[in-house]
Amino acid sequence: MADVTRRRMLTAGAIGAAGLAAAVTGKAQANTQRPVAPKPGKANPDGKFKDKVVLITGATSEIGEATARAFAQEGAKVYFCGRREALGEKVAQAIRANGGQATYHKADVRQENDVKAFVDGCVQKYGRIDIAFNNAGIESPPGTIAEHSLETWTNVMTTNATGVFLSMKYELPVMLKQGGGVIVNNASVSSHVGFATISPYSASKHAIASLTKVAALEYSDKNIRVNSISPGAVDTPMLRRALAAWKTDFQTVAEDYPLERIVKPEECIVGMDMDATGGYLAG
Ligand SMILES: NC(=O)c1ccc[n+]([C@@H]2O[C@H](COP(=O)([O-])OP(=O)(O)OC[C@H]3O[C@@H](n4cnc5c(N)ncnc54)[C@H](OP(=O)(O)O)[C@@H]3O)[C@@H](O)[C@H]2O)c1
Repeated sequence: MADVTRRRMLTAGAIGAAGLAAAVTGKAQANTQRPVAPKPGKANPDGKFKDKVVLITGATSEIGEATARAFAQEGAKVYFCGRREALGEKVAQAIRANGGQATYHKADVRQENDVKAFVDGCVQKYGRIDIAFNNAGIESPPGTIAEHSLETWTNVMTTNATGVFLSMKYELPVMLKQGGGVIVNNASVSSHVGFATISPYSASKHAIASLTKVAALEYSDKNIRVNSISPGAVDTPMLRRALAAWKTDFQTVAEDYPLERIVKPEECIVGMDMDATGGYLAG
């Protein structure tokens, strides 16, 4: 493995995070102006996403799961996928036990037939797709470009970039037919800056940013809004694996971010602004 210093990776991350935190120009603002994540509690069927259908790729754990729970808590019908069947059913059951509506559909976003069946399944079950959160993704193990195998490159690109392409390819016609919708793609700080040692991940996330911009241009006049979010470091097993591989820790990484802490998955939902995702329906 190449000797890449933490500073070389994390300074880039800090720059990315600072640039991406919209309207956040300093530490004081970042700490005082952040909205508050929805409090866990019984689902409210008359919540702000009452009757809205939300499709999520990769909600068997962490950011996707937290998003599924939050939308369901606000009255949405959530249809989500992931490959780990037992976890998927567990998440769906937990949401239903909380009074929410959720359906798990086993699907691998690398497979076109799976993505098509997943999107069709949502329309069959709930009739439409108001909001799609294309979140499924994997990290790459550390290594320089010369060290990475083609297999790693292909798997990361196929999951992260092709997965978002395929998801939008099948979501957009549904939204066109129903007259509008909202798509949010989960990119990353890595979609804006280079991080040494994670070229497959970084390239795949840059591709997501690019696909998002193109889709926004192609569909803005069809009442379909397409955006991406770019979380910095989020406390999930994915991050913990990356920190272990980089031989660094939470505190050290946190110091390179404006908030000086690692955020929780629930805070990414605030980042995607739940009011904004439903906004088009009011217009
Ligand atoms: N954690 C961070 O610091 C961070 C920062 C910026 C962006 N992100 C992005 O946030 C997203 C979620 O990551 P996370 O941190 O919440 O990690 P995670 O817990 O590993 O979540 C990844 C999700 O994607 C799903 N997934 C992976 N490959 C898939 C495939 N081929 N088909 C269908 N689903 C697949 C996983 O489900 P199955 O394994 O069940 O398939 C899981 O539900 C990723 O796109 C990641 O790049 C994370």
